[in-house]
Amino acid sequence: MEKKQPHLFSAKLLKLAFFTVVVVSFRGLSHGHPLDQAGALKALWKAKRRNNAVDNEWVAPSLCADRHRTSAGGGKKEDDLIAGGLPGQPASFASSNKFKQYAGYVSVDEVNGRSLFYYFAEAVHLPSSKPLVLWLNGGPGCSSLGAGAMLELGPFGVNSNGKTLYPRRHSWNKVANMLFLESPAGVGFSYSNTTSDYQKSGDKRTAEDAYTFLTNWFKRYPEYKSRDFYITGESYAGYYIPELADTIVKRNKEADPSLLIRLKGIMIGNGIMNRETDDRGFFDYLWTHALISDETHQRLLEYCMNSQIKKCDYLLDGASKEIGGIDHYNIYAPLCLNASLSSRNPRGSGGYDPCETDYVHSYLNLPQVQKALHAYRTNLPYPWQLCSAIIVWNDSPSTMFPIYRRLIASGLQILLYSGDVDAVVPVSSTRYSIDALNLTVVKPWSPWTDAGGEVGGYLVAYNGLNFATVRGAGHQVPMFQPSRALSLFKMFLAAH
Ligand SMILES: *[C@@H]1O[C@H](CO)[C@@H](O)[C@H](O)[C@H]1NC(C)=O
Ligand SMILES: *[C@@H]1O[C@H](CO)[C@@H](O)[C@H](O)[C@H]1NC(C)=O
Ligand SMILES: *[C@@H]1O[C@H](CO)[C@@H](O)[C@H](O)[C@H]1NC(C)=O
Repeated sequence: MEKKQPHLFSAKLLKLAFFTVVVVSFRGLSHGHPLDQAGALKALWKAKRRNNAVDNEWVAPSLCADRHRTSAGGGKKEDDLIAGGLPGQPASFASSNKFKQYAGYVSVDEVNGRSLFYYFAEAVHLPSSKPLVLWLNGGPGCSSLGAGAMLELGPFGVNSNGKTLYPRRHSWNKVANMLFLESPAGVGFSYSNTTSDYQKSGDKRTAEDAYTFLTNWFKRYPEYKSRDFYITGESYAGYYIPELADTIVKRNKEADPSLLIRLKGIMIGNGIMNRETDDRGFFDYLWTHALISDETHQRLLEYCMNSQIKKCDYLLDGASKEIGGIDHYNIYAPLCLNASLSSRNPRGSGGYDPCETDYVHSYLNLPQVQKALHAYRTNLPYPWQLCSAIIVWNDSPSTMFPIYRRLIASGLQILLYSGDVDAVVPVSSTRYSIDALNLTVVKPWSPWTDAGGEVGGYLVAYNGLNFATVRGAGHQVPMFQPSRALSLFKMFLAAH
């Protein structure tokens, strides 16, 4: 039986989704053979515990050190327009009057030559009356273009031929102007001309660069400056997003008014929040979903929650054997075992194809696609990949709780949502984390209704943030439950 390498995406994301530090110890692995999921998970668990040292305190980066960053960033909006549409775009979308798409680079550091790549899909109807929404995938190091836009919630997905696109019925640009940022440099088409920058990746510079990207992007798109702005994303973006929001809130106070960003809210799916509660929720999820034995669960709690690293490593090896070769991102989803069988679920109508990651990889490496996207390959000595194999992570805090306290105090609208069949950052982790924030329930647990009239999931409102589950969704909620994800996104935007 020909067993295809399962999901590059999953393996890579899995490798990185949980905790930063992993990248550091994964260097050797990621440069060698591609990882399979079980192997990645195992090594991830280990690395995460070995590297407790990489546990930096978060301080939002300050304005003073970076005068060279906030130049115009070069470039004109007109040059970034994808005039003829994307190669292989369905004919019904070919006329650019449906909605405009832009893609290109915004420089974030002129000294080192660091530049971030974005893809921007304006809203289908009346873009000037719709909010601006930034989407960030996690990793750290996974592409918001390949994952977010192409696999999850952008206007198009990629067909199994790897060359043509299908329209996504539940695309989020039906209700908002969607901006996808490949972040940090070294991810996707984003690059640095100073390649040692890749070794210096980490949470602080990621937030700093993303902030600089935004201020320079608004210079190119001044009509969006006064628009309500939201940040959304998933997984490791559970760190990126609060950190970027914290940076924006801080800079809005200290920067000159011309740089003001009208940040209204953040929405995070299956995001990591706090190491201890994330771990506990993870072990409990594996046990309550019949993936590991009673004994292993007991011992994981006993040893891994008490920093007995050697014993914990050994247990995690055992746990991974007990779980076997399933998709941890959706414990009930099929694996991509045979790409040629994959057309069984027509994706255009909302079906799920576990091999779609491969199609996206082929598509974004086509020269004509890179040309249409204005992605300058000469600067990139590596192929486009869903998750970066070249960045090395250096800083990451162990908790987002202090940031959440500040963001809540600043009055931002916050929605944490969770696909309930994800075993990577499971719903139980998010619930333990929210519980540890000591918030008060203002509207108790109740079902919410999806567009089809069914229970889409459950909702609790706290004083300061809302929490929603999405029934039957895995880690990448819009990929697994596109209609429910769009309903939730609409509720989030309407709540303001
Ligand atoms: C995969 O698909 C090919 C072509 O349809 C077929 O020949 C092969 O037997 C399939 N392999 C498995 C494991 O189903
Ligand atoms: C990186 O170097 C290339 C080639 O010299 C140049 O065209 C590009 O503008 C540089 N990028 C930045 C952000 O300075
Ligand atoms: C929540 O309350 C407990 C008990 O009073 C306290 O130890 C903990 O630090 C609080 N958590 C946060 C995030 O403030």
